[in-house]
Amino acid sequence: NWSMESFIEETVQDIRRQVGSGKVLCALSGGVDSSVVAMLVHRAIGDQLTCMFIDHGLLRKGEAEDVMETFVGKFDMKVVKIDASERFLNKLRGVEDPEQKRKIIGTEFIRVFEEESARFDDFEFLAQGTLYTDIIESGTATAQTIKSHHNVGGLPENMKFKLVEPLKALFKDEVRKVGEECGLPSAIVWRQPFPGPGLAIRVLGEVTEEKLKIVRESDAVLRDEIAKSGLDREIWQYFTALPNMKSVGVMGDARTYSYTVGVRAVTSIDGMTADWARIPFDVLERISNRIVNEVENVNRVVYDITSKPPATIEWE
Ligand code: XMP
Repeated sequence: NWSMESFIEETVQDIRRQVGSGKVLCALSGGVDSSVVAMLVHRAIGDQLTCMFIDHGLLRKGEAEDVMETFVGKFDMKVVKIDASERFLNKLRGVEDPEQKRKIIGTEFIRVFEEESARFDDFEFLAQGTLYTDIIESGTATAQTIKSHHNVGGLPENMKFKLVEPLKALFKDEVRKVGEECGLPSAIVWRQPFPGPGLAIRVLGEVTEEKLKIVRESDAVLRDEIAKSGLDREIWQYFTALPNMKSVGVMGDARTYSYTVGVRAVTSIDGMTADWARIPFDVLERISNRIVNEVENVNRVVYDITSKPPATIEWE
């Protein structure tokens, strides 16, 4: 594709011109925007780029490993991984209110970033995945803007860094095209939306290691079965959530008292409205059987059949 190639070529030249022989830090989240930024900047200036990947411990199963495998293993970039999961879990202890959880995670993320980036004191530039929509939306109080204020990855303002923002003229679908053209794996290019505060908002009530494990493991089963049935491109977003409830079940001769897992899968264009996905019953059956068999402390699986509105996509 001619225009995409020329966009990449021009952008690479722009980055070189802007940065010169300076050093660039990029906050990598594993999402498509920051991944494409890292690819472009790396193509432009190679080892003058260092990526910082903050693992808040609220990612899906295998996600942190995939990020390292892709960017270090495959693309040979310098990535510093910050394991901050304990910090985030400590801050979240005893907190039940969803907005409170979002605030704590957002604030803590900025703190971790500030502390860790202070160690890169000879770095002049920060590369960010700002999109055109991020720029035009600020100033209008749409639901999406309100959300993005809570988004993890919102970095502190008034930093010493000069910003490198190679995507700021692009829409999301163009970012994906650039990503594909740069050779980014399709799992990243086509990754389903994932909230910045991560699994913390899919665990209703207090976030604990035990509950995170249940969401993580059940979500992995769901993703596996959706992929096996070939529905992953059709369904816009799919995940499991853990309502704060236990109920009675039976296993052999014994009574159990365990968690219920909620399965959410929706079709949508932009996340503003959504319909529940008509997953075939046999696929739902496999998902349910595998979750109760493979995930400890779960004895019931329910499927969410509400559209948005009146429900939201996430359970939080
Ligand atoms: P709701 O639950 O409001 O979600 O219907 C709409 C879409 O937004 C995603 N979402 C987020 N995305 N940061 C994000 O980048 C967030 O904090 C956040 N919260 C929700 C959600 O997954 C869905 O795709």
